[in-house]
Amino acid sequence: MNTVPLTVVAYQRDIHEPAYLRFIEKVMGAEECEHRRRVLASMHERMPLRDRAPLRHVILDGERVAGSLGYLPAEFLIDGTRVPVRFTHDLLVDPDYRGQGLAKLVVDNARALGDFFPGGMWMTDPCYKIHLACGFDDAPVLTTYTLALDPSSFIAQKELSSVKRVLAKAALSSTRLRTLARANRAVARAGDTVAEVARFDPSHDAAWQQLAATYAVTLARDAAFLNWRYFDHPNLKYRAVIAARDGGVTGYMVWRPSNQGEKRAVIPDFLVAKGDVATFERLLAQVIVEGSAAKCSSLSILTSQPWAERSLRTFGFYPRGARNTWVVAGWRGHISEATFNDLAAWHVVLGDSDGDIWSHAR
Ligand SMILES: CC(C)(COP(=O)(O)OP(=O)(O)OC[C@H]1O[C@@H](n2cnc3c(N)ncnc32)[C@H](O)[C@@H]1OP(=O)(O)O)[C@@H](O)C(=O)NCCC(=O)NCCS
Repeated sequence: MNTVPLTVVAYQRDIHEPAYLRFIEKVMGAEECEHRRRVLASMHERMPLRDRAPLRHVILDGERVAGSLGYLPAEFLIDGTRVPVRFTHDLLVDPDYRGQGLAKLVVDNARALGDFFPGGMWMTDPCYKIHLACGFDDAPVLTTYTLALDPSSFIAQKELSSVKRVLAKAALSSTRLRTLARANRAVARAGDTVAEVARFDPSHDAAWQQLAATYAVTLARDAAFLNWRYFDHPNLKYRAVIAARDGGVTGYMVWRPSNQGEKRAVIPDFLVAKGDVATFERLLAQVIVEGSAAKCSSLSILTSQPWAERSLRTFGFYPRGARNTWVVAGWRGHISEATFNDLAAWHVVLGDSDGDIWSHAR
């Protein structure tokens, strides 16, 4: 452990922001710091539940920030009841201080708060190990599925021998043709029951709550959260489609086309009633057609639902080999052991926790 008198302090923006931004600029560079400054401002000024301080802890060495851990306040719907939670995210230690136990110090400090921490989810290996060492529990493995929309460009990103390259391209090209034909047919059949929206409308909040409550555990979504998280993101442009039936909404899917310099597209969020394959596929087909038209090389989605995984495979999505880490603390007393270990009880998506919130066009 370090011998320096370091203190873990709840972050107060008006006091700590200058030192915190100096820390980010030193560790991540000026350009990344500028992107992050905008995202941080959106968290402190516009994020729903932002009053649930602290939004981060910083480790101070005198005036200097040596490390930090952030929290994203959210609400989970557990068997239909709202439960306050906080995602831990954005663990960072200044290289000058690494290997002295600072990361453990700040994660231990969070753990000691006793909150329900359903995260983080997108961790580096050291970060994952640190969370486990600090008493977070390993939740079931999550899998990301990817569809190659532009086989040549998709394969160019992989390290393959020339023979494998040719074979993979032929296989992916025929899958893509079949998938696109199917998606186009589904879009034509769906007609105006699936539509792109510019923002989420609060008049649908009750419907989103009802759909979310079909899962034992999931994030509570409403227009305020979804608009902040996606449409008001300072660096990224998201799109969303909504499905309707008999005058009511039956689901939505949020996706992000390629950025300048990045050809992958992602689906960070979707919501349909548990097992509503028909709505899921109508939304997915629309995103596949749009993603292909937008010249995205691939489309990735994460789901914890077996019926959605089966559907994705029929569209030609492949599971990613590497595991997505997912660690949870403070869940006992809120959910049973059986539910915790039953992946199908959870509705988890790529945008949970901080998802791709820090991404930006390069
Ligand atoms: C990951 C990071 C936060 C660790 O900070 P740190 O203060 O050096 O970590 P600690 O000294 O508290 O180490 C805690 C444990 O993690 C291990 N660890 C730390 N960095 C590691 C690394 N790069 N590789 C493997 N293990 C590592 C330590 O060995 C220690 O384990 P031990 O107690 O069994 O010896 C820091 O390296 C960092 O800021 N990295 C870049 C940002 C990042 O990856 N953040 C996570 C985003 S999800």
